[in-house]
Amino acid sequence: MSDALNYLVQVRGDALGHYFKFLKDTGKHLDPKTRDLISVITKVHSQTEGGFKQYLTRALRDGCTPLEIIDALLMAFPALGLAKIVWATDILLQMDIPEFSPALINAQPQWRDVMAVADIADGAVERIECATRTVFVYREGETYKVYDSHCPHQVTNIPHLALDGLTLTCPKHQWKFDIRSGDCIEKGQHPLKHFDTKVEDGRLLAWW
Ligand code: FES
Repeated sequence: MSDALNYLVQVRGDALGHYFKFLKDTGKHLDPKTRDLISVITKVHSQTEGGFKQYLTRALRDGCTPLEIIDALLMAFPALGLAKIVWATDILLQMDIPEFSPALINAQPQWRDVMAVADIADGAVERIECATRTVFVYREGETYKVYDSHCPHQVTNIPHLALDGLTLTCPKHQWKFDIRSGDCIEKGQHPLKHFDTKVEDGRLLAWW
């Protein structure tokens, strides 16, 4: 929510509550993905950058694919016009979400090479740039965790510097994550996105 809305909720929560209830009720007969796609379109229509990023992230989290989001934008062309679609696409490109990259947008999930297991010590965390995305890798004995480096809040690409021991703090809004589990332990509600892993011939592979 914007600072302005936060303020209005604080000082006139009694009145604003009706508005939020109305918004909640309007989508109750729609499935979550359809609701998410319509929300994304409304933010493009009003050209609200923060809201667009927020609803886009929620749509991805709820299972919308990048191609479904792009199709929704294109289908709304008669209402949005080309300028607003380009505005949204520019933001998408700045956000640098791996799933929207030409290399991944049409790709089937598959095992991807991450690193040699010999290159990560027990208890260590590494940030690795693979061919199609950047990941954090945590090793505990013979168990390996691989997480997308993008924050589940608004997809900020979290740098290695954000790591303090086993806690990762997103620099944008300070959500904190426990790198052992990926759980969000402060400020936010959503965990880091993680990938299945296996070790083959001394290489760590992850599924995306
Ligand atoms: S983008 Fe908001 S906490 Fe990471």
